Amino acid sequence: MATAASSLHAATGNERFNNEAANWDNNPFVHEASKQALKAILAKFPALKDAPGQNGLDVLELGCGTGLLSSIIAPYAKRVVAVDAAPGMIEVLKNKLQKPGAPQNIYPLAVLLEDADDKRLPPADESDPNGPRLRFDLIISHLVLHHIPDLGKVLTTMKDCLKHSAWVALTDYEDAGPDSKSFHARSRMEGVARHGIHLETMEVLMNEVGFVNVNVERAWSMDKNVEKVDGEFGEAGRASRAGQGQVRSFPFLLCMGEKKYCP
Ligand SMILES: C[S@@+](CC[C@H](N)C(=O)[O-])C[C@H]1O[C@@H](n2cnc3c(N)ncnc32)[C@H](O)[C@@H]1O
Repeated sequence: MATAASSLHAATGNERFNNEAANWDNNPFVHEASKQALKAILAKFPALKDAPGQNGLDVLELGCGTGLLSSIIAPYAKRVVAVDAAPGMIEVLKNKLQKPGAPQNIYPLAVLLEDADDKRLPPADESDPNGPRLRFDLIISHLVLHHIPDLGKVLTTMKDCLKHSAWVALTDYEDAGPDSKSFHARSRMEGVARHGIHLETMEVLMNEVGFVNVNVERAWSMDKNVEKVDGEFGEAGRASRAGQGQVRSFPFLLCMGEKKYCP
């Protein structure tokens, strides 16, 4: 009989992240990328800095992985609901949250989020656990959009999860042309739906799904050691000997959009 976890694997069609979860945090690149994402987001959303605590923002991170970005944004938020389709990633996050000094306002959930009314999301009112679901002040998602086949659908779900006049701030590497394909080694292409996100395409899509005040911009760039020759890094997917690979700079986009206020 299929377990909840195995049907989640089937739903994503992607076991790669469950397999990589235990070693995910050993890669310095993902830590640095999350720090850069936080910096870019804080620069655009001063409300995060103003009032953490009970008057702070409710943040949803979609595709949180092991919670690298959730953990560093948590001190600026009232709470962070950290959702990932890979149960293995969420297990790693849950273990980290048990450690001394870990943030206490992160709520990890192993969910392939397709419905803003999904009962696994927290309720808007804790005294009514089966009532309407919480709506968020800010939705973030980092290094995830390039894995999602139907961007229009996930953007619509995000919009449904927001309060009125609330925002998405989505970060991922840019599809800046044919070289963007080298971001992933050949052995790490499973689950890659596109080689980065495309600036103009994101602007059009976000407007199409109904966001207002859409702004998609290059926010930072990062160097990455990538395969010089397709398949050079073998199954490990990373350089294992000196001299392997070549360093390329990858621009990252920050995609912002506001849910229209509807009285
Ligand atoms: C490249 S990892 C990035 C993880 C994390 N954001 C980080 O930067 O370390 C992409 C993550 O997105 C998750 N993911 C992909 N599609 C998803 C979806 N539709 N809903 C939730 N999570 C998803 C995967 O399970 C994976 O953990």
